[in-house]
Amino acid sequence: MPRMSKTAHEPPDKDTARVEHARLGAEIGRHDLAYHRDDAPVIPDADYDALRRRYEALEAAFPELRTPGSLSGKVGAAPAEKFAKVTHRVPMLSLSNIFDVGEIGEFFARVRRFLSLSETAALAVTAEPKIDGLSCSLRYEAGKLVTAATRGDGFEGEDVTANVRTIAEIPKVLRFDGAETSAFDVRGEIFMLHEDFRALNLRQEEAGGKIFANPRNAAAGSLRQLDSAITAARPLCFFAYAWGDWQGPLPAATQYDMAQWFSACGFAVNPLMRRCANAVELAEHYRRIEARRATLGYDIDGVVYKIDDLAFQARLGFVSRAPRWAVAHKFPAEQAATRLLDIEIQVGRTGALTPVARLQPVTVGGVVVSNATLHNADEIARKDVRVGDMVLVQRAGDVIPQVLGPVLSERPSGAKPYVFPDVCPACGSAARRGVDEKGEADVVTRCTGGLVCPAQAVERLKHFCSRNALDIEGLGDKQIELFFNEGLVRTPADIFTLEARDGAMTPRLAEREGFGALSAANLFASIAARRAPPLNRFLFGLGIRYIGETNARRLARHFGTFAALRACAGAAADPLSEARAEINAIEGIGPVVAEAAAEFFGEPHNQAVLDALLAQVTPTQMEAARKDTAIAGQTLVFTGTLEKMSRDEAKARAESMGAKVSGSVSAKTNLVIAGPGAGSKLEKARALGVRVITEDEWIVIADGG
Ligand code: IVH
Repeated sequence: MPRMSKTAHEPPDKDTARVEHARLGAEIGRHDLAYHRDDAPVIPDADYDALRRRYEALEAAFPELRTPGSLSGKVGAAPAEKFAKVTHRVPMLSLSNIFDVGEIGEFFARVRRFLSLSETAALAVTAEPKIDGLSCSLRYEAGKLVTAATRGDGFEGEDVTANVRTIAEIPKVLRFDGAETSAFDVRGEIFMLHEDFRALNLRQEEAGGKIFANPRNAAAGSLRQLDSAITAARPLCFFAYAWGDWQGPLPAATQYDMAQWFSACGFAVNPLMRRCANAVELAEHYRRIEARRATLGYDIDGVVYKIDDLAFQARLGFVSRAPRWAVAHKFPAEQAATRLLDIEIQVGRTGALTPVARLQPVTVGGVVVSNATLHNADEIARKDVRVGDMVLVQRAGDVIPQVLGPVLSERPSGAKPYVFPDVCPACGSAARRGVDEKGEADVVTRCTGGLVCPAQAVERLKHFCSRNALDIEGLGDKQIELFFNEGLVRTPADIFTLEARDGAMTPRLAEREGFGALSAANLFASIAARRAPPLNRFLFGLGIRYIGETNARRLARHFGTFAALRACAGAAADPLSEARAEINAIEGIGPVVAEAAAEFFGEPHNQAVLDALLAQVTPTQMEAARKDTAIAGQTLVFTGTLEKMSRDEAKARAESMGAKVSGSVSAKTNLVIAGPGAGSKLEKARALGVRVITEDEWIVIADGG
């Protein structure tokens, strides 16, 4: 066992250690969030490392503190892993801001004075949206993209080349006269569309991953991934609007024509860019862009004006860290202060408890806001938001309004820190924070009453009946919703008693809209046909967190019967118990899955539901791989990123259809499924003439099998 390192603190006694360990865990969790999710660390890396060292030293001295919820299982303290640095040949500077239409005239006047231009001399200025994303500098040599770097501190950025290569909108090769001898930096903004942002957060929620606060954070988080396959799966966009170092003559003489040239080279340039002749035209265009803001589909936070003539730009140069030839006209801040009336907890369909701020209605950026998200328990604690507080509310683009924090000077006396509930408001089951799939402390508090919680029940029922679970024909999402809403089916067991109850129901199923005698009889027959489901499908159908098809097979294989699994997992509440150790030791099952199983089978609310279900169905042995599918007996390789199902799921699906899944491509490979970011395996498959298909084509096969 590693000895406790000598730190500023001496080893405390066990109880003190436990308290300090918990406090440090929470603190480290907050910094992890600030760093990874918000891309905005609040303490220096060295301080973070010190917290981490102390945390690990406590665990070394008191091993019982190392539970599945512990942060020590995290792979590599992320702040230590860094991207290589890139020095910008020409610094990436910022823009000075103006906030008032009246200041546009002052900008013109300043420029005219500096250039000694008369009032009547022509002075064209471009106007274009200021994109709220992250700026990026792309180095092209001989027409090829060679390096991509973030802005960093303006002088030195991070090398994100591998990730940027996965962005479809960024050309990898430019074709133009003289490309062979060229070398230059194209600069612009990487950002995420609102609809992609929403879809990403939905996927994140389903996978128990991090929820991003806004599209900018999502874009930054997606770009700053050490694994470029993750970036590849996140749809990022790019607008080119500037340049840095340029070897040789520029291809155009004006800002506007440079943008046209970028466009001809294959870059997206903002279609709202205009060339204006005077302050009045600029103000008009500002208003036009502002009016379009809400419907653009991406976040902008102002309009950038740039002197069009590049010879003028060169003469104007820079003052401190901003060009004299450009200015950002920012939109008015979309923030307002209002009273926090209450904090309500919503339970999502995956059991996630989300705190929602109920606000005294207030107009923010022209829209009345009465609800705002508070994200999770950590966020409430970090901001120390209390019911009764005046809070600052922000609306960015069409993102859900957020509470930025309390106005402390206006805090009512007696306002108490918010205590996040530890029971689910929808069903009364315990609500807990665990660890996410990677073993990281989970910011989300979840209801453990999966089978009884009404907030989750419909989705659980759908899952239970779905194709890869019990596969009940004729009981699709629509029918389940109908049965649930009419109170006919509330729990999985109710499905199997439907026929017996039908005689006493008015109207009977056969007389209900959408049904007839035949379809009712067919439905009862297909339900009856599933009274002895294979154990792995039954287990998967229960919808226990982290127990997807693969883990369900692993558990089914190990325990053989449902009773054996239930007895073991039911006795595994204590992380140090033998029962927990047994589950933990199953090949492929880690502490996170073991904890999820223990939690599910330990939750008292789930027992009655399980008993009722087992009175109706008898799970049988695990199913054997099928031989009658299109891919039975074939060897498959998955490469690149799968966007619609996890790797594990894809593998389980392929195996259950009788295929073998291999990690490398060879002459024996029959089929390669290639997602975005696929590299050498895809090339090899092509070279060997192996059939390559997309994920969508794979889904057709997987669903048809
Ligand atoms: S031009 C010398 N044009 O705003 C600076 N910047 O506040 C040349 N930005 O770091 C920048 N949209 O990340 C320019 N259309 C646009 C922009 C834009 C967004 C960002 C850029 C810059 C920041 C300055």
